[in-house]
Amino acid sequence: MVKLKILVTGASGLLGHQIVAKALEKGFDVYSAYKENIASLGKLVKIDLTYQSLVWKTLAIIKPQVIIHAAAYTDVDGCEINKELAFKANAEATKHLAVAAAKFGAHLIYVSTDYVFNGEKGLYTEDEETNPINYYGYTKLKGEYYVEQYAKSWCIARPSVIYGWSHTRKLNFATWIINNLKNNREINVLVDQYVSPTFNTNLAEMLLEIAEKRINGKLHTAGASRVSRYEFALKCADTFNLRTDLIKPAKIEEMSWKAKRPRDSSLNVSNAEVVLDAKPLKLNYALETMKKQRDVEP
Ligand SMILES: NC(=O)c1ccc[n+]([C@@H]2O[C@H](COP(=O)([O-])OP(=O)(O)OC[C@H]3O[C@@H](n4cnc5c(N)ncnc54)[C@H](OP(=O)(O)O)[C@@H]3O)[C@@H](O)[C@H]2O)c1
Repeated sequence: MVKLKILVTGASGLLGHQIVAKALEKGFDVYSAYKENIASLGKLVKIDLTYQSLVWKTLAIIKPQVIIHAAAYTDVDGCEINKELAFKANAEATKHLAVAAAKFGAHLIYVSTDYVFNGEKGLYTEDEETNPINYYGYTKLKGEYYVEQYAKSWCIARPSVIYGWSHTRKLNFATWIINNLKNNREINVLVDQYVSPTFNTNLAEMLLEIAEKRINGKLHTAGASRVSRYEFALKCADTFNLRTDLIKPAKIEEMSWKAKRPRDSSLNVSNAEVVLDAKPLKLNYALETMKKQRDVEP
């Protein structure tokens, strides 16, 4: 059987690492692109995707059948401050990949975000109007436009608040909660921000199925539960037998963020539930799975 040859960008990140790990389990020929932090699995490709000539050369040499583009400048407040860097990393790099993917005949899967929506409604479907309220969301949406404009075969996959065990020291929402509660530290968590938390291994499986089936179009590939960040923290504490009394309710207006956050950027995942065998997971099940992946002592 011919192995699927895939290039994963952002392979040193929270999501990219999981995609590479799962793709290797499936026996794919996997190229792992990173910028500074060396990816730990797959065939390593060091590349700054903001350089068009490098993107072009890399694709000309590797000639992947599928690209899963999970690289981005993901610091939402950082994007608000470093706008030029954010635009280059999130919008322009995606344009370079879209153009090169079309030239070299690769199916491009672009990992976008729920932050393309303004958050006034929630449970967004794929075709609802986008209207980002921060610069990160704006640059990711520009990336979507470039994919639609330049790539020939593409999928735009939108997750929301990605969490799970990470091979790096960078914390995500779940590991931040677990880490603080384990150390008996109080945390302030928003009661008025709603999301569709997305378990990294579940998302990796959905993206790899999109890759294998070369699914086209936009797909909301998030978790199947809409919750406030506060509810998420409580469920996390329950699952990992940690203290819920340390979780203190907070409101968006109390936060001193540089960038605005959507109030309800939860996603409707009905299409993914129909199209994919790897179904978006409910939060309780995903957290139980996360617990089984690694034992955490309270
Ligand atoms: N995290 C979330 O809650 C969330 C929610 C919705 C959507 N998303 C989207 O999901 C994707 C994955 O997010 P994540 O949390 O896994 O990201 P992450 O952990 O912050 O990792 C980001 C990755 O992008 C790479 N990267 C950044 N700039 C680059 C450049 N100029 N050239 C090449 N590589 C570059 C980084 O490489 P180095 O580390 O080597 O520098 C790293 O591998 C992103 O597209 C993000 O927008 C994330």
